[in-house]
Amino acid sequence: MPTPGRAAVREDASSAPLAAVFTVPTGAAPRAFRPSCARAPRGSGGHGPRAAATTPPSDEGNAMAKITYKHPDGTATVVDVHAPDTVMRGAKLNGVDGIEAQCGGAAQCGTCHVYVDPAGAVPLPAMDEVEDDVLYTTASPRTARSRLSCQLPVTEEMDGLVVHLPERQT
Ligand code: FES
Repeated sequence: MPTPGRAAVREDASSAPLAAVFTVPTGAAPRAFRPSCARAPRGSGGHGPRAAATTPPSDEGNAMAKITYKHPDGTATVVDVHAPDTVMRGAKLNGVDGIEAQCGGAAQCGTCHVYVDPAGAVPLPAMDEVEDDVLYTTASPRTARSRLSCQLPVTEEMDGLVVHLPERQT
């Protein structure tokens, strides 16, 4: 037989009216159910999958230059590079081996080092202080023809540029 105290507690809990526990405000208009994971239509600005980031194709409506990448084994790869892509990006986009570009073109890694062929004689942008400093850290020796290919944005005037790839970038 239960003790008198316990019986009293059980009786109180079971006899509490439900309305006292789940109070529903009166007078408020019912709100439409909208789960937070509901998928909003595309372009509505609401939740839902983001549209894929669109990077404009680099080969539409821009100037172009034919760039020759000469490999240490004597072979060469010739690709059309579109402005404003750089000589580095032109190599990466076209699968040209020999340019690593570990920093993605930020002039920090020196792994996009190339030697500009003097025979091409195309106008190149002046070397700034940062590029000059980084060229002292490259894996292959720096020469008077060394440039960071990520610092060479392509222009139409650079058509015919020939760059030699170093033996190694790291
Ligand atoms: S990509 Fe790193 S320095 Fe050019």
